[in-house]
Amino acid sequence: MSYDGHYANVYDQIFHQEDMARSTADFLGALMPEHSAKALELGIGTGRVALRLAAKGHPIVGVDASQGMLDVLQEKLTEFDTSAVEVHLGDMATWEPLGEEKFELVYSVLGSIACLPTLDQQRAALIRACANVADEGHLVIESYNPPPLLRVFDQVPSFEARAEYPHAAAQLHSLGKLDDNRLSVTLDHTWSDGGGDRNFLEQVHLIDPHIISSIVQENGLELSGLYGDWSRSPYDEFTTAMFVAAFKRTHT
Ligand SMILES: C[S@@+](CC[C@H](N)C(=O)[O-])C[C@H]1O[C@@H](n2cnc3c(N)ncnc32)[C@H](O)[C@@H]1O
Repeated sequence: MSYDGHYANVYDQIFHQEDMARSTADFLGALMPEHSAKALELGIGTGRVALRLAAKGHPIVGVDASQGMLDVLQEKLTEFDTSAVEVHLGDMATWEPLGEEKFELVYSVLGSIACLPTLDQQRAALIRACANVADEGHLVIESYNPPPLLRVFDQVPSFEARAEYPHAAAQLHSLGKLDDNRLSVTLDHTWSDGGGDRNFLEQVHLIDPHIISSIVQENGLELSGLYGDWSRSPYDEFTTAMFVAAFKRTHT
């Protein structure tokens, strides 16, 4: 599924929480003490995190497969007249920077890795991500923790959620279903605001943090921390909703 169309248009309204984006950018910024250290975001989207990291003085290169999401980001870059964020339309499983450029930080947050539909594509993206990390550089991946989600589906075949967005005078209704392979969740969303109803599908392809960890470690980086959130709460297999896995390249 693509983030183009309705999803791109309402994405910033759905993920509007300042504190959530700030805690992500603070965690990532602390890994790059040097002001000019450069970062690569895989699945940059509308720049929710990248713009905050750029505001800390870090040049960012961002890759995203959705032109719709990049159009929203481009509008913000024009509005704030910033050249600190360089944007590329591409697939994180295959995208390569020009030349030999490496990054002090490569990151992919809010489950962008779970947008890739197969484990092979997720593995390819992680291998590429590792190859782009400079010596002493970091890789950080945030995604959905499979066990709690699977536990929900052990009890009900599908779930329905309704969230209110008073800042946008809107409501998001979501219907979630687990595919037979127990690896993918399909979310059928309806965003309702004064302009009517907008439908969009989202697919989440679950990947366990320990699988990510073994792929990344096979590719030369060491696990520096596995957390349950951006405040570094300990990861718990059964209660962590989104995990944060941080890695470091200590030698080539
Ligand atoms: C949940 S959004 C996260 C966006 C942004 N990182 C944030 O934190 O708000 C997932 C993003 O990954 C992008 N994406 C999905 N598949 C991709 C792929 N194969 N390569 C690059 N980006 C992809 C989507 O277009 C979307 O912008």
